[in-house]
Amino acid sequence: MADTGIESVLSENRVFDPPAPEAVGAPRWLISSMDEYRAMHERSLRDPEGFWGEIARELHWFQPFERVLEFNPPDARWFIGGRTNLCYNCCDRQVDAGLGDQTAIVWEGEPVGADGPEIRRLTYRDLTLETARLANALKSLGVRKGDVVTIYMGMVPELAIACLACARIGAVHSVIFGGFSAGAIVDRVLDADSRVILTCDGAWRRGSVVPLKDNVDAACKTLAEQGHEVSHVLTLRRCNNEIAWHDGRDHDWHEMTRNAGDECPCEPMDSEDMLFLLYTSGSTGKPKGIRHTTAGYMVYTYTTSRYVFNLIPDADQVFWCTADIGWITGHSYIIYGILPNRVPTLMYEGAPNHPAPDRFWEIVERHRVTQFYTAPTAIRAFMKWGDEHPARHDLTSLQVLGTVGEPINPEAWMWYRKHIGRDRCPIVDTWWQTETGGHMITPLPGATPTKPGSCTLPFFGIDAAICDDEGNELPNGSGGLLAIRSPWPSMLRGIHGDRERFIETYWSRFKVEDPRYPSPSSPSPWYFPGDGAKRDSDGYFWIMGRVDDVINVSGHRLGTMEVESALVSHEAVVEAAVVGMPHEIKGTGIAAFCTLSPDHTPDGTEAAEALKDALRAHVASEIGAIAKPDQIRFTDALPKTRSGKIMRRLLRSIAAGEQEVNQDTTTLEDYSVLAKLRESDEG
Ligand code: PRX
Repeated sequence: MADTGIESVLSENRVFDPPAPEAVGAPRWLISSMDEYRAMHERSLRDPEGFWGEIARELHWFQPFERVLEFNPPDARWFIGGRTNLCYNCCDRQVDAGLGDQTAIVWEGEPVGADGPEIRRLTYRDLTLETARLANALKSLGVRKGDVVTIYMGMVPELAIACLACARIGAVHSVIFGGFSAGAIVDRVLDADSRVILTCDGAWRRGSVVPLKDNVDAACKTLAEQGHEVSHVLTLRRCNNEIAWHDGRDHDWHEMTRNAGDECPCEPMDSEDMLFLLYTSGSTGKPKGIRHTTAGYMVYTYTTSRYVFNLIPDADQVFWCTADIGWITGHSYIIYGILPNRVPTLMYEGAPNHPAPDRFWEIVERHRVTQFYTAPTAIRAFMKWGDEHPARHDLTSLQVLGTVGEPINPEAWMWYRKHIGRDRCPIVDTWWQTETGGHMITPLPGATPTKPGSCTLPFFGIDAAICDDEGNELPNGSGGLLAIRSPWPSMLRGIHGDRERFIETYWSRFKVEDPRYPSPSSPSPWYFPGDGAKRDSDGYFWIMGRVDDVINVSGHRLGTMEVESALVSHEAVVEAAVVGMPHEIKGTGIAAFCTLSPDHTPDGTEAAEALKDALRAHVASEIGAIAKPDQIRFTDALPKTRSGKIMRRLLRSIAAGEQEVNQDTTTLEDYSVLAKLRESDEG
């Protein structure tokens, strides 16, 4: 494995056994011992059809499936011949069972008035009614089964309603994170050939209004210039900020839904009909539209939600995932996995430190949150803000804590355990991806002894291993490539419009033949997630990070290429190379090395600083604030190999401030470049 350059420096020996359920106030653990986990895991691999078929039958089907699985690498079909509807399973099913008055969504707005924040509670009946009305409104705009509806909204209940309404009528949703810019909307709308956009006038974020509708207007203008007409924009009033209005194209959400009928039957969807597209970054080119289909995604997110968070209906639980619905975490663990489990899902609109750094803990206390799911980057911010903020609040309702998005450093893990879990709650560090749809490697809170920094063991149905390129399993302790060696229900079904990239990215890395699957080595029957990892002597998995040019900033994926393209689209920049660098809060920060055009070379430090600010602003407007480089250096040339490839490893060491570049530089074209780069200003 010398060529992957994966080396793990972590060594962590602490082990925490799961507490008794009484110790955290849980009625029971659904899986309560390692023996139980092992037996179920073993069965799920030996008999996936039996295992998943049984679970799937707990949900509602308009027509039962005939077969559970058919896998012709890289194409899997799950629950073949079945017809179901995910919106039905989230909403109507509970109403039909006589449970329509139970709370489905608890929502808290960001602004805090004299009487406290605005709080809304929606029952399953409310949710059924609201999704039906919006679905009828969409139909009246001409939206049909299979059409892609773009959703660009703040974290209001209507965002969840929008997704569910699409699912109800079989429209495919493509949610764009509200922190992205107009440029990001343009790329995604074009790629998906979407004609309808749902948005808000604005979104509250840390006390100010993000002008979502303005961004949509700007995107529509660019799209029109490129020959793509957006036919309808439906706008929800939330912040009452001033917005422009385009008669004919623009519609008011409240008006349209008020006039829409209350009845809208759920479309019986084929198991493999598309549910949504979600764009995520890759190492090359534009973001890719990851395709998820209906039944497999439904069954897998339902199952992982249940076992990983120990969800038990009628037990006064309140589940809170702090992610935005614009990311896969929000899709799977605010909406689709949680609602069918009949435990209320909490949505919070705004920032964790508005109006004060204890906002999250106030919410936990106010709503008696039992499961809390967040990202390591947030935990590191909490640590920095100070222990006194959580200490002021009653957090005894908490039963299970979760993390997701990036490797969690043991220090943050220990802080989470002590200051939020008060040394009682188990922590589930869940490894997964946009592409996997749901948790893949994760502890089960009542069964798995945990180690700070390890995502522990594979979930049911997941055959994970550490391999080399030929698929040879590596001994415990050595770093290698993470491989998933068998299909699972919520696996991605493709990259929208790019079959080749789908095969190349995920199904080409391992040169293996697997007797379980018909086709020989290409495409590979094993899935390659793009992460490096190792296992320890207990077989626990430790994720070491991406092995491609994807960086993970604050738990969100960015392709270095995307940031590079944004930089070179600025007139001053001729060439740019972007790499990740260690960052105290974000985990990974962004370092950019730019060569400038002679006409724009700044004169003096002040001009250089001004240009760096301008470049940061430019990247923010092209992609979104999340992609702003933390460090920009101007340089005469970038270090390249003789074949012209930028030597990223080298740039990474420089960005990390390593004194000696202790890497092989024999292929470097121009040694002097290296010295110059080191001298180049950082900032
Ligand atoms: O590198 C892994 C990291 O995040 C990547 C997936 O990013 P994305 O599709 O944006 O999904 C994030 C939320 C599911 C993975 O390839 N990652 C995610 N969770 C973990 C993680 N790395 C280590 N530990 C985790 N728990």
